[in-house]
Amino acid sequence: MKLWAGRFKKELDPTTNDFNRSLPFDSRMYRSDIEGSIAHATMLGECGIIPTEDKEKIIAGLEGILSDIESGKLQFDDVSEDIHTFVEAELTKRIGDAGKRLHTARSRNDQVALDIRLHLRHECDELVAMLKNLISVLGNKAEQYSETVMPGYTHLQRAQPIVFGHQLLAYAEMFMRDIDRIKDCKKRMNVSPLGSAALAGTTYPLDREKVAKLLEMNGVTRNSLDGVSDRDFVLELASAMSIIMVHLSRFAEEIILWSSFEFKFIELDDAFSTGSSIMPQKKNPDIAELVRGKSGRVFGDNMALLTAMKAIPLAYNKDMQEDKEAIFDAIDTVEKCLAAFTPMLDTMKVNAKNMRKAAAGGFINATDCADFLVSKGLPFRDAYKATGELVARCIELSTTLEELPLEEYIKVCDLFDDEVYKAIDLDKCVSDRTVYGGPAPSQVKLQAAELKKRVNDI
Ligand code: ARG
Repeated sequence: MKLWAGRFKKELDPTTNDFNRSLPFDSRMYRSDIEGSIAHATMLGECGIIPTEDKEKIIAGLEGILSDIESGKLQFDDVSEDIHTFVEAELTKRIGDAGKRLHTARSRNDQVALDIRLHLRHECDELVAMLKNLISVLGNKAEQYSETVMPGYTHLQRAQPIVFGHQLLAYAEMFMRDIDRIKDCKKRMNVSPLGSAALAGTTYPLDREKVAKLLEMNGVTRNSLDGVSDRDFVLELASAMSIIMVHLSRFAEEIILWSSFEFKFIELDDAFSTGSSIMPQKKNPDIAELVRGKSGRVFGDNMALLTAMKAIPLAYNKDMQEDKEAIFDAIDTVEKCLAAFTPMLDTMKVNAKNMRKAAAGGFINATDCADFLVSKGLPFRDAYKATGELVARCIELSTTLEELPLEEYIKVCDLFDDEVYKAIDLDKCVSDRTVYGGPAPSQVKLQAAELKKRVNDI
């Protein structure tokens, strides 16, 4: 029997009922729905809107429903329209007439707006915890590899030497910003729309602040139309999660490259790699590839949400039911990616020798060679040109700047002397880059230590 049976002469067509109902996907909000209803009933009782006796029956009934859902004793059915109607009907079944008083001064419009806020608020905490975990792994690894020289790249061409720890800390910064974004989004999400009712508020003397306080929310929404039709916080979370996926996907791409035969910078643990059904030698970075691939899914969810929300007139419209599957899918995807990515990273082996070899082979100390001439008084542009000629000479002779004889240097510019070999020494090139935020091992150690403190303070 539908809630609106009084007004209607027929039951909803069964196929249409399936199309209309959201219980199959909004049932996951059962806890938020029940917590919201307990707060609402508490306030109704305390404000004298419903009898105290009924308030108590309602709360006990809702608590019973919660524990029965949790233990599996109470199953969701195949016909109820949504989690709100399911819980209310079950409550009335259990406690009789008192159950019918729960929905006083409330509409499913403000109820669903509250439920989704409470549910996503919890997911925000979950995401932050998972990101903190990932950042901690990055911090430890950065410390461990603070002296491991590797090439830094631009255009995927060897550019200047850095250490592996520095590269890892770059990703840690991205994930720190992700945490910031989620926490910021949670602030705006964490206000109570209850009291907005269907769209135009209510005539009952509600204590809206009381409900917000009971639910540990920051306050109440200020406009009843906006209270029921705002889903900005869903869009914000979807967009923050899209950015997380951009970061994970870029990282995944590097993991894939680094574990290739061509790079051989890292080796993924067997527990986080797969083999081929035909090529016995293969060890594939499937996890990283999947993470990279799943980024598209989250961007799609984000776009679906934006599109569903655009051009909806005020206030509530059923289009808004579409918010759930998209945001839940995005959350599930990001959480699954983080759950696989973090241990994959934690267990990878690093091939420091190959990193160093790659750093030694690509003239990545050429800038330092030019800087040597600058230290002798030559303007940088001239020093740059002279070093370019030296690189060309090295290529001609199939050698490196380290091995090029001093006569060759002097032929190009007579400001060169023996000291140049010290200036272009790979370790020195890195360890001199002590600028704040730079790749010198001393900086990387400092940054890793600071990171640990920053994560602990979150
Ligand atoms: N299942 C609905 C949703 O998710 C709940 C709100 C229904 N409100 C209504 N007026 N039909 O949006």
